[in-house]
Parts: sequence; structure tokens; C-alpha cells
Amino acid sequence: MAARGMKLSSVCFLLFYAILTVLAGRDFYKILGVSKTASIKDIKKAYRKLALQLHPDRNQDDPNAQDKFADLGAAYEVLSDEEKRKQYDAYGEEGLKEGHQSSHGDIFSRQPTGRDIPRGNDIVLDLEVTLEEVYSGNFVEVVRNKPVAKEAPGKRKCNCRQEMRTTQLGPGRFQMTQEVVCDECPNIKLVNEERTLEVEIEQGVRDEMEYPFIGEGEPHIDGEPGDLRFRIKVLKHPVFERRGDDLYTNVTISLVEALVGFEMDITHLDGHKVHIVRDKITKPGARIWKKGEGLPNFDNNNIRGSLIVTFDVDFPKEQLDDQQKDGIKQLLKQAPSQTIYNGLQGY
Ligand SMILES: *[C@@H]1O[C@H](CO)[C@@H](O)[C@H](O)[C@H]1NC(C)=O
Repeated sequence: MAARGMKLSSVCFLLFYAILTVLAGRDFYKILGVSKTASIKDIKKAYRKLALQLHPDRNQDDPNAQDKFADLGAAYEVLSDEEKRKQYDAYGEEGLKEGHQSSHGDIFSRQPTGRDIPRGNDIVLDLEVTLEEVYSGNFVEVVRNKPVAKEAPGKRKCNCRQEMRTTQLGPGRFQMTQEVVCDECPNIKLVNEERTLEVEIEQGVRDEMEYPFIGEGEPHIDGEPGDLRFRIKVLKHPVFERRGDDLYTNVTISLVEALVGFEMDITHLDGHKVHIVRDKITKPGARIWKKGEGLPNFDNNNIRGSLIVTFDVDFPKEQLDDQQKDGIKQLLKQAPSQTIYNGLQGY
């Protein structure tokens, strides 16, 4: 009996709590997964990560994907703006709605209820980045000429819809017709505006990842603009090849170095030197793994992949004379090969 009582009261509490949170608006900090003291950089970072994860295109099985993404967009729009964040901290989401209009149009129309508001098209742009940028991170400014809706003199027809109209033709005779009915809205013209967007190339970013800019896509005259998404295209690098977080490179050493060992520096993507020392024999195709010299992991920059160096051996170009041949035989004293024919193992 006592256990049931407990259960009931906790249900009541949860219910009460749920009502309270609805009244208080959404918890933008929780949506972004950051603390109340998070810096603007942390907020940007959290947003970009979540935007990639929660993008509706990537979550087509989740019926709430659109809403989650909209919540994320709203959270970011508020917390990334110092003024709005202050308002929000003091009065919650309700406090933002009153009086303080958003400069980027009304962000609150992105709430779940705004589902049938028409939307402009999304724009996807390829953003080419170098492997150096993936290694060190970078901020890239992209200038975009964006058509922006501005109010213009006059009125225009809007929100047009089909309606049934009944007309009396005579006594007892009616005709029902379908008619297009429109509202009058202030006229709007699209004006090209130059906007500079800052895209952060995050360390370890992967090919095909997308950075969305909410509301920066094509405008819609009766609704809200679509999104602009930058899709990362990592360019091929002449020296390093990327596989996941690992970097591969090839180095050619001389036959002498292959036999007696060597010491060398490989210049890394940010210019630092990776020192390699070997005193053992290095066979052609041998690999050296340098742990922690790969790319930073996208999700956790403190984790790094490996740098894998594959060695090729450069044989002397000049033929040896008889004296040199004897010298080498003396020196290496290598027994003649026992197996003449090795077969085709492994092929
Ligand atoms: C290294 O050499 C191998 C074999 O020739 C080649 O497939 C690979 O692309 C090379 N890697 C780089 C980074 O040049």
C-alpha cells in the first residue's frame, strides 16, 4: 500500500513538473547539452555537432526529427546572441516572445506547430577544404549573395486557398462553386543582400559532413526560408593520405639507409617535424607507426590517429664492377637463396 502511494505521488509530481516545463518554455541549454556558463565557442561547437547528428535527412526513421532539429535551431539562435541569451536567462522563452522581435525573422515560427508553413528550398554547397585545415581547424568566410524579402509599397494576394461559395440563382436554386480566395498582404520584393557567413572547419571533420546555416537557404515569399548547408569535400593531399583518423605517407630511402639505418624528419601538416630514427634493417614495404601523429578525432580532439610511414627502397642506379661485387659479398656473407621458386603464395 505504501509503495502504491509512493508511485502515485511521483506520477503527480512528474505531471506537475511536465506542465511547469511547458509553461516555462524549452530548456535551450539542455537541448544544446551545454552548461549555463558555456562560452559562445562551446555553444557554437555543440550546435554544429548536434546539427550534424540531428539533421532530418539523416534521421528519416524518427518522426520527431523535424521537431528536434527545429528546437536545436531555436536554441542556437537564442544562445548564440548575447542580447537574446540575457533575455532568455532572465525570463525564459516566454520572455523572448514578448516585444523582442528576432532580427532574423521570427524564429518561433520554427516551432512544431509551424509545420505547414511553406519553406524555401534548402541549398547545399560543396566546401573544399585542405587536409591541413582538417588537421589544424580553420575559420572560412563565405560571402553569399542572398535574396532577402523586403517590404515594398502596395499589396499582394497571399495565403490563397480554394473555398466553396454558394450563390442563389433564383428562388430555391443555388449554385455551389469553387473559388480561389486570397488575403491581402503587404507587398514584398526580393533584394540581394551580401552576407558573410563564417564556417568553422572543425579539427578532424570528415568528408561529406554538412554544416547547416538555418534560414540561409532560398527564401519563400509566404513562408520561411530554407537552410543553407555546406558540405565538406576534403581535397587530396600530395603527401598524406587520410584513412579515418590515420594518415599514410610513403618515404623512399636508399639501399644503404635500408641496411645501416637512418634518421629523418617528416614535415607534418602544420609544419612540425616528426622525427624517425632506425638502426635496424628496413625492408621495402616496411611500415612505421607513429601513434598520436594522425588526425584529431572529430568527436574528441584529444584523441589522435596514427601516422603510418611506408618505406620504399631506392636501389643504386649504377651497375657494380667486379671489385664492388666482391666487396659486398665479403661484407654481407649472405647465403644463396635456398628456394629458387617461391610460388605464388598470397596472390
Ligand atoms: C603510397 O604508395 C602506394 C603504393 O604505390 C600507393 O597506393 C599510395 O597511394 C601511396 N600513398 C601516398 C600517400 O602517396
